[in-house]
Amino acid sequence: MKGVILAGGLGTRLRPLTNITNKHLLPLYDKPMIFYPIQTLVSAGISEVMIVTGGNSAGDFLRLLGDGSQFGLRILNYAYQVREGGIAEAIGLTRAFVGGDRFVVILGDNVLEGSIRKHVEAFERQPGGARILLKEVPNPRDYGVAELDGSRVVSIQEKPAVPRSNYAVIGVYMYDEFAFDFISRLEPSDRGELEVTDLNNAYLERGLLQADILEGWWSDAGSSIDGYLEANMKVAGMVRRASSERRVE
Ligand code: G1P
Repeated sequence: MKGVILAGGLGTRLRPLTNITNKHLLPLYDKPMIFYPIQTLVSAGISEVMIVTGGNSAGDFLRLLGDGSQFGLRILNYAYQVREGGIAEAIGLTRAFVGGDRFVVILGDNVLEGSIRKHVEAFERQPGGARILLKEVPNPRDYGVAELDGSRVVSIQEKPAVPRSNYAVIGVYMYDEFAFDFISRLEPSDRGELEVTDLNNAYLERGLLQADILEGWWSDAGSSIDGYLEANMKVAGMVRRASSERRVE
């Protein structure tokens, strides 16, 4: 299983913090934001990762992360996204790296409290297709939203004005190698991007999409200044709890 982290974009929702640097290099409490998605992949047992970056300060990722050995990664590769072409376009840039393997994509500003290991293992047991993770949120209009029939996903809408549920599709996606064929057939959305929601719907229409509900908190640190602040506070709580537990031991 390979891992892909998307860390491009101009971070316009966090301006002026992102005027001269990349959103994913900003601090989240005690570390640069990008450290958290790397740790999420590593703790799920993934050791071969590609980071897709672009926008401001793309070269700084190399200076900060090097060959990835500080995280225990065996392979860390980089790709460069030239324009704001969307999440699905960025995934498409990893085709040669992924080869015929399955892979987990995580958005570089998504921070999770718990491990995704059991979801990755469930995906490994799937005959093929894709797997997404859902989380109930108070503000579904800010996300991709899954319409549910019981526990089955029947459709996904990107940032709908009238959401059909409170379940956001979080920025962790698992795909088989057919993702690249689906991406090559996607059309740009109204905002001119290849949308990850359209990729997920391509799997869904063929009956190849599974979904799990995520336990523990999830934060989209790049969604807004308030989302960034909230993510900082959640991470601070988590890090402080872990260090006081270590002191007790
Ligand atoms: C993206 C996706 C959206 C998803 C969200 C999760 O939105 O387009 O479907 O719910 O990530 O973080 P963005 O936050 O990049 O606008």
